[in-house]
Amino acid sequence: MIEKQPLSHLRTGHAPTFPTLRPRRLRRTPALRRMVRETTLSPADFIFPLFVTHGHKRRREIPSMPGQYQLSVDQLSGEAEAVARLGIPAVILFGIPRVKDTIGSENFAEDGIVQQAVRAIKAAVPELVVITDVCMCEYTDHGHCGIVRELPGGHFEVDNDATLEILGRVAVSHAEAGADIVAPSGMMDGMVAAIRHALDAAGHSHVAILSYAAKYASAFYGPFRDAAQSPPQFGDRRSHQMDPANAREALREVAIDVAEGADIVMVKPALAYLDIIHAVRERFDVPVAAYNVSGEYAMVKAAARNGWIDARGVTLELLTAIKRAGADIILTYFAKEVAQWLRDNEC
Ligand code: PBG
Repeated sequence: MIEKQPLSHLRTGHAPTFPTLRPRRLRRTPALRRMVRETTLSPADFIFPLFVTHGHKRRREIPSMPGQYQLSVDQLSGEAEAVARLGIPAVILFGIPRVKDTIGSENFAEDGIVQQAVRAIKAAVPELVVITDVCMCEYTDHGHCGIVRELPGGHFEVDNDATLEILGRVAVSHAEAGADIVAPSGMMDGMVAAIRHALDAAGHSHVAILSYAAKYASAFYGPFRDAAQSPPQFGDRRSHQMDPANAREALREVAIDVAEGADIVMVKPALAYLDIIHAVRERFDVPVAAYNVSGEYAMVKAAARNGWIDARGVTLELLTAIKRAGADIILTYFAKEVAQWLRDNEC
C-alpha cells in the first residue's frame, strides 16, 4: 500500500507539508545504494569472443574493433589464462580459415582452425568453457550461411535442408575437438534439432547447444564481418535472419529452438533489442544470452576516442541495461576490461 500524502494544505491554503515519500533516502550513501541495487554485473555473466587465424605469433588488431585481435593458435593459451584469471567462465571461438570453398570444408576438418583452437585452449585451461560458433559464412567463398543454390533468372537461395546436414557435421567435429557448447548462428530452420541429433548419434550427448535463436538482420554486424572476413559476396542475409521490425516472431523462433532442444537461447544484437530480451526472459525458463555485437562495441570505442563520451561509464551502463532487461549471460567484447574494472572496485 502506498501511503497517502496529506492533501489538506491544498484545500486550506496552509504552508505545504514536506514530502513523506522520499526515494532519495535510499540513495544517500554508496553503501545504501549498493544494498538496494537490483542488478549487478559480475565477470561470471560474460562470454568473451575470440577470432582465431592461421599463422604464427599473430596478434593483429581489428581496425574497426580497437582492443580486439585476430590471434594465431599459439597465442591462445596465454589469452585463455588471462580470461580465466579475470573470472570470465567462457569464450566463444570464430575461425578464419586458410581456404574458403562452396561448402566451407575447413569448418569440419579435423585440423581446421577452430578445432586446433579448441584443443589449445582446453590443454591450457581445461575448466574454461569453450563455445564454438557453428555457421558457414566464415568458411564459404560466397560468404553465405549455408549451401547456395542457383535459381533460374540469376537468383540464388540458401538451401535450408542441405545446410542442416553440414551443420551437423561441423558441430560433431567441434565436439570431437573438445568444445563444451556449440552455438549455431545461421538461422536455418531446424538447425537445433539437426545438430542435437548429429551430436547424440556421435556420442556427444553431453555437449550443449546455445542457439542464436532470435538473430536479426542487423547493420550492427559490420565490424565483425571485417574481423571474421565473412561478408556475403552478393545479396544479403535477410532471407534467414529476422526483420528488425518483428518482436512476436522472435518468440516463435525461441519456442521452436527450445522445443528442438536448445539449452540456452540468444537474442542478437542486444542494445537495440532490449524489449526482445525482456520478452524472451518473461516467457521461457532456459538461460537467456544476449550478444552485445561488434557494431555496438565499435560505437562506444569510436565516441570515446573522440572524447565525446566516458567509455567506462557508458560501457557499464550498457551492460547493466542488457542484464536488467533479462539477460543471464552477455557475449561481449568488453568482457575483459569490464571484469578488470569490477575486480579493481572490489579491493
Ligand atoms: C555468423 C555470426 C555473425 C556474428 C556472430 N556470428 C555475423 C553475421 O551474422 O553476419 C556477428 C557478431 C558481431 O557482430 O559481433 N557466423
